[in-house]
Amino acid sequence: KRLALFASGRGSNGEALYKAMCDDYINGTFVVIITDHHDAGIVQRADGWGIPIVVIERSDYDSKADFESAQLEALAPYGVDGIVLAGYMRILGCQLIDSYEHRILNIHPALLPSFPGLHGHQQAIEAGVKVTGCTVHFVDTGMDTGPIIMQNTVPVLPDDTEDTLSERLLPVEHATYVEALRLFCADKLSVEGRIVRIEE
Ligand code: GRF
Repeated sequence: KRLALFASGRGSNGEALYKAMCDDYINGTFVVIITDHHDAGIVQRADGWGIPIVVIERSDYDSKADFESAQLEALAPYGVDGIVLAGYMRILGCQLIDSYEHRILNIHPALLPSFPGLHGHQQAIEAGVKVTGCTVHFVDTGMDTGPIIMQNTVPVLPDDTEDTLSERLLPVEHATYVEALRLFCADKLSVEGRIVRIEE
């Protein structure tokens, strides 16, 4: 599949996916990278991957609608089959979500539907849960509410901070996202309401 990668930050999930594509583990290619920060870590990280990087910053547009139009225009020439959000820190507009229904994936650093939104690790620590994890899900118009594709867990230890917990979770995120995107690219996922079925 032809995929767009959206990232706002350091891009470690994006890189894990890119490597799995290079190894032919995922039958897909990132044909464009879109970031909303010209100085995002992903920009340096992806230097040398030979993938066009398009910077679309919210502050350059008067309205959300114009910002979304710029995203749609940037995507248009690439004819993408799906969008991979990996640390993209903005809610997508409705037009984008409608155009790519069940074709936009996101990773969230908590076991949804618990702890959606920002600071998933910190929310888990404060709630006192003993297990947390990550969720790869399809994106709908809500905040981290779309159909769940895959989840994996890590323990929360008594002295955990946001940093220690995110360090423990990050490799699990990478493995989970690689597996979920592999299944998506192999057309093994089907969605019925809230339920995602995996045909292996
Ligand atoms: C990850 O924790 C992801 O779950 C969250 O943002 C972080 C992105 O990390 N949505 P990276 O940019 O992929 O390194």
